[in-house]
Amino acid sequence: MSVRHPDYLPTGKPTVGASRKWGSVPEDQRLGVGVVGLHEGHTMLVALRSSGLCRAVAGCDLSEEKRADAAASAPGLWVTDDFDELLTRPDVAIVAIYTPDKLHAGQIESAFRAGKHVICTKPLVNDASVAERLIEVGRETGKRLQVGQSTRFYEPFLQQREMYARGVFGKVECYDAHYHHRMDWYYEKSPWTVTDTHWAYLGLSHPVDLVRWYLGEIAHVQAMGTTTALGEKYGMTRPDAIAVNLMSHDGKLGRAFGNYGLSELPQGRALIEGLLMGECGTSLARYPELRHTWVGPDGVEHDDDYDHTLAGYHYRHELKGMHYGEFCNIADSFASAILNKTDNSPDLAEGLQTVLVMDAIVRSLESGQTVTVPRLRR
Ligand SMILES: NC(=O)c1ccc[n+]([C@@H]2O[C@H](COP(=O)([O-])OP(=O)(O)OC[C@H]3O[C@@H](n4cnc5c(N)ncnc54)[C@H](O)[C@@H]3O)[C@@H](O)[C@H]2O)c1
Repeated sequence: MSVRHPDYLPTGKPTVGASRKWGSVPEDQRLGVGVVGLHEGHTMLVALRSSGLCRAVAGCDLSEEKRADAAASAPGLWVTDDFDELLTRPDVAIVAIYTPDKLHAGQIESAFRAGKHVICTKPLVNDASVAERLIEVGRETGKRLQVGQSTRFYEPFLQQREMYARGVFGKVECYDAHYHHRMDWYYEKSPWTVTDTHWAYLGLSHPVDLVRWYLGEIAHVQAMGTTTALGEKYGMTRPDAIAVNLMSHDGKLGRAFGNYGLSELPQGRALIEGLLMGECGTSLARYPELRHTWVGPDGVEHDDDYDHTLAGYHYRHELKGMHYGEFCNIADSFASAILNKTDNSPDLAEGLQTVLVMDAIVRSLESGQTVTVPRLRR
């Protein structure tokens, strides 16, 4: 039996307290979203209950049980096991891809060719050789893509970015990010995570994206890795604990670290942390704590806690660690960019540049050398 998504029952309109907003249009003018891959993709269906610009219209999964759970959580949802059939639906304006990593590239191309915009979860793709082809298909079809880079859209990370943009921390000099998470449950639920992808993509996509977002284009990476006892138990033949130093073209320094076999220590370290070190301030954003700790030029330390206000939006008072708020933020910021003809981020080119960094990390792990990251030809 497949593992059920925690929100398989229709639990009604969830949002209490505050939420991020990108505007609102009448229901019949909202962009229709069709989701493929209804495990983490189920989270998107539920998240869209809080949306002002999108509505869930279709779902696709090979599993009958996942389709039934999705239809129960999003009443009126049209479901299928055939992705090509979903692509024929005129009410689907945006296809949201939440299938195993190695399927993303082909599904992005099919969706673009069917005239759909795309939200694709992280990692955007786990094979750098497809990058130029996807750029080409994006250009040919004129369709847009939003990387579902959830950490960027989590409230403390949004706050960190907004304060950075206002100059509170000055110019960024270093950024230190990690994503640590014990993954036995994931290997049990989704065996493809052992055989068909690499933790340099699946896990490090969060900290590497954060480092790139702040430092700009990465010139060189130096990576080292080890396989933990937990990884070995599940048959990992590649590292599941990876540490990376990253240097930008203009000499700024970053670090990305991920251990997927550790015993978690949530009171000591958050699963995801992003430590921005600026010329006149420092900021620490965390996940899953809704907490942002920072100091500016006056030296006063602030600890901003959004848990009471925003736990309903991000977790619906269910399971801390769900991504409802982030996914609604991703969909609505993208829909707003489409409707207002403004830029979205990370878009296809930015997401693929991050893929080239992750590819360089794999090559550095394999060679033991410092690796130069190529620039994407656009
Ligand atoms: N923070 C985040 O944004 C976040 C969190 C978790 C997972 N993810 C990403 O979401 C993706 C899926 O992860 P998951 O944990 O849900 O995996 P999963 O194995 O639990 O679910 C994948 C689903 O895709 C379905 N599927 C597979 N092939 C299909 C096909 N050809 N057509 C239709 N459905 C198909 C499977 O039946 C399954 O239900 C991965 O890329 C993962 O990295 C992102």
